[in-house]
Amino acid sequence: MDRKQHWEQVYSTKSSDAVSWFQNHADQSLRLIHNTGLGKNAAIIDVGGGASTLVDDLVADGYTDLTVLDLSSAALAVAKQRLAKHTDSINWIVGDITRVDFPLHRFDIWHDRAVFHFLTDPADRQAYVDLVMRAVRPGGHVIIATFAEDGPDKCSGLPVMRYKPESLHAEFGDSFVLVEHEKEAHQTPSGAVQQFVYCYCRKGNNWASIGK
Ligand SMILES: C[S@@+](CC[C@H](N)C(=O)[O-])C[C@H]1O[C@@H](n2cnc3c(N)ncnc32)[C@H](O)[C@@H]1O
Repeated sequence: MDRKQHWEQVYSTKSSDAVSWFQNHADQSLRLIHNTGLGKNAAIIDVGGGASTLVDDLVADGYTDLTVLDLSSAALAVAKQRLAKHTDSINWIVGDITRVDFPLHRFDIWHDRAVFHFLTDPADRQAYVDLVMRAVRPGGHVIIATFAEDGPDKCSGLPVMRYKPESLHAEFGDSFVLVEHEKEAHQTPSGAVQQFVYCYCRKGNNWASIGK
């Protein structure tokens, strides 16, 4: 089964509030996004957003330029149905983040919770980081959450990479400044606790040649 089939099957057979990564509200992500200090017209992408409620809360906060990308059309269908009245402010994209492209400097904020850690192949991680380099504007904000070094070694039955803040930042390199990092002890719907690490980075300003 390839990875798209895996995720389509997950979201077609499980309720979106029963999956291990479910959060009623993505509170840490929301706080980090608010703390960027950007206005409500900031261009924000939630990479591998799936059926997450993050986009609901961003819409409720008044953000007007939102993109949610996911490999699974079944996942996006769940979120889309909840947000059917907000078609103007949300761009839904079905795609593989290691294979898509975006216009140069399209986003002010790049958010990813529990997607980058599935990229166990270095070539996929490189493709992801190259895309962040192109698609996030200079000075833009990058928020990535993965399983921490003391987190599980599998997610949704798939092997994952686990990171310390320093090793996660190192994947992105010196073009990104690690501004802060924090942990999350995520409680799954079945009561298990999973340790996440969140890295909040800024993309350096002196990269005029990015994307050329
Ligand atoms: C563990 S879930 C996290 C969902 C959401 N970010 C959250 O925190 O609730 C991982 C999500 O990433 C998506 N995904 C996995 N690999 C992907 C890829 N290569 N490109 C885009 N989405 C991917 C899955 O379909 C799934 O929705």
